[in-house]
Amino acid sequence: MTEARGQFSSKLGFILAAAGSAVGLGNVVAFPVMASKNGGAAFLIIYLFFIAFICYPVMMAEIAMGRQTNRNPVGAFSQLSNGHRGWRLAGALAIVTPFMIAVFYTVITVWLVVYIKEIAIGRLDVLSNQSTFGEVVARPSLFGYLFGLLCLIFLILLGGVKGGIERLARILMPTLALMLVSLTLFVLTLDNAIAGIRYYLVPDFSRMNLSVINGALSQAFFSLSLGMGILVTYGSYFNRQDNIPQSTRMVAVADTSIAFFAGLLILPAIFAFDPNTNTDDLSTSSVGLIFSFLPQIFLSMQTAVGYAGASVVAVLFFSLVFFAALTSLVSIIEIPISCWIDELKLTRKKAVLLQAVLLTIFAIPAIMSLGISDFFTTFTSYGGVTKSFFDLVSDVFYETILPFVGFTVCIFCSYRWKLKGLSSELSTGDPKYLGSWLEKYINFSLGTVIPFVLLLVFVSTVFQIYVP
Ligand code: PHE
Repeated sequence: MTEARGQFSSKLGFILAAAGSAVGLGNVVAFPVMASKNGGAAFLIIYLFFIAFICYPVMMAEIAMGRQTNRNPVGAFSQLSNGHRGWRLAGALAIVTPFMIAVFYTVITVWLVVYIKEIAIGRLDVLSNQSTFGEVVARPSLFGYLFGLLCLIFLILLGGVKGGIERLARILMPTLALMLVSLTLFVLTLDNAIAGIRYYLVPDFSRMNLSVINGALSQAFFSLSLGMGILVTYGSYFNRQDNIPQSTRMVAVADTSIAFFAGLLILPAIFAFDPNTNTDDLSTSSVGLIFSFLPQIFLSMQTAVGYAGASVVAVLFFSLVFFAALTSLVSIIEIPISCWIDELKLTRKKAVLLQAVLLTIFAIPAIMSLGISDFFTTFTSYGGVTKSFFDLVSDVFYETILPFVGFTVCIFCSYRWKLKGLSSELSTGDPKYLGSWLEKYINFSLGTVIPFVLLLVFVSTVFQIYVP
């Protein structure tokens, strides 16, 4: 007997799950720092422009591909390609990408768990020491945490689309929003918080240059979970009678609002710590910031709320980041699982088991890449720098490939599936779509400006990372 294919219970279920995927480390850490380093509100304006005019159409195209075919990315590309087998490669890329992103995102999430535990047992002061991060990531005990985290994730995924993914998002997304608002209100009461707000919100257009613009688009694309096959798969779980353009808008608004609010939390906290902070010195890497810098900021709050109070705030913050990471991680691991279910005709149970084994095999070298094993720590070198296995996976799949996958989606929808098919899918559940300005804009831009811009971003990133 074949199992019924998973489906979200409602439009809200889809919106929460997609927002759960979109809200991740990119929102709560990378965005605030990027914005403040690159001109505050000026950066925000460009970011919003990219979300509306580039990312929103690509998001809808991905969701429409999934819903039209009821399949994972490999199945969706092959079904809509009308026998042109070359397009299967694009489908394969849209599976390998989330598979590999899951590998290193899992490792970062393991570190988060260790940090939460360490703070909870009273060791915030140790963590705020610069050298502690290097020591934590080289601990052999990480394997135990990795195993625990993987068990939790795969148990959730065994619950299926409604009982696992959607239920998790229904619980964690409102919790996350509440924690974010409460922590922000608390931080705003600290001395000098206002300096952080000023830094964040006063526009400074003099900082704009090509690399900032490139960074804003990459960040927007990444933050909405585009180019990872996630929205194709989630689209395949979306009811036919529901409205894609409207639901997509809500996901984009939720994701962007959380990123914006995270800025109102992080920057005032940083400026309360040191009113003379020079944001140019802040690391844009989420990892460096979360694990090396933020513990110091929380520790400094002890003058206002005592050591125990500062530890509580830190635990709350790290739990918030953990929840954001967990919902993203679950969403991305679902992509290969949906592929095993559709293409290999496995039951969900067997597909989950297969993916658990595969992910573990790749996560082990990734977790050994920061000191546990010399071989994986100095795995390769390019762009003039020695790179670990973890760096390699992160550079190729996280930093570089997403705009390229987005490019293939645009070209595919415009010239292979054809705009007529796309329009007809987008108007299912939204009869006003046909003939609207939105339809005109998408039909014009999806095969022209948008893929062109995405290709430019891809090429410039390749030069930045791989050419010495
Ligand atoms: N949108 C996520 C973020 O901002 C990106 C992501 C999604 C990463 C799913 C991993 C898995 O962090």
